[in-house]
Amino acid sequence: MSGENVLGILCSGRGTNLQSIMEAVKSGQIPARIAVVLTDKPDAKALERAAEANIPHACIDRKKYDDKEAFEKALISELRNHGVTLVILAGFMRILSPYFVHEYKGRIMNIHPSLLPSFGGAHAHRDVLAYGVKVSGCTIHFVDEGMDSGPIILQTAVPVMQDDDEDTLAARVLVEEHKLYPKAIELCCKGKLKVEGRHVRILE
Ligand code: GRF
Repeated sequence: MSGENVLGILCSGRGTNLQSIMEAVKSGQIPARIAVVLTDKPDAKALERAAEANIPHACIDRKKYDDKEAFEKALISELRNHGVTLVILAGFMRILSPYFVHEYKGRIMNIHPSLLPSFGGAHAHRDVLAYGVKVSGCTIHFVDEGMDSGPIILQTAVPVMQDDDEDTLAARVLVEEHKLYPKAIELCCKGKLKVEGRHVRILE
């Protein structure tokens, strides 16, 4: 084993977090190589971003697989073929089964646009606004078998303004996402994260 950090990034849509991670790898902030970008949708803008950066990319179209297990097997096969050591979910809008999580146990990260454990799920900003909290933010966590429930690596708080709608809040949170995800991946790739049960200790 070479000890090289090999990233496989999974996206479903526009890929702005992918972009910030690609830039952080390019600048040397993250000591890793991005081996492959995979999407579950053929029209994901993330594919164009990967192509522009000359990074191998492919769509594993969920619609072409009979069931979740077949789809996840195809994903795992691509990740293995590329020698991926760390799976990064960057706006990947599917819940991975325990089968997938087991394959990459402790080596899958996700970003969620709220301060977990509050407002997990697919409509974080809508739920934040409906509830009336004054602070939201973003969370980077390791993925376990539950939804948005794995050990938390880093969080940034973002104020909720009185006149916010989903778009304005999402935009303010996204600015922080683009800083936080590269930072968490950097720490992981530098061996500075130690997971102890639910707690992720950051080693200095
Ligand atoms: C981000 O807000 C991320 O937190 C959430 O989905 C969005 C993806 O945006 N999981 P992008 O595709 O990275 O632009």
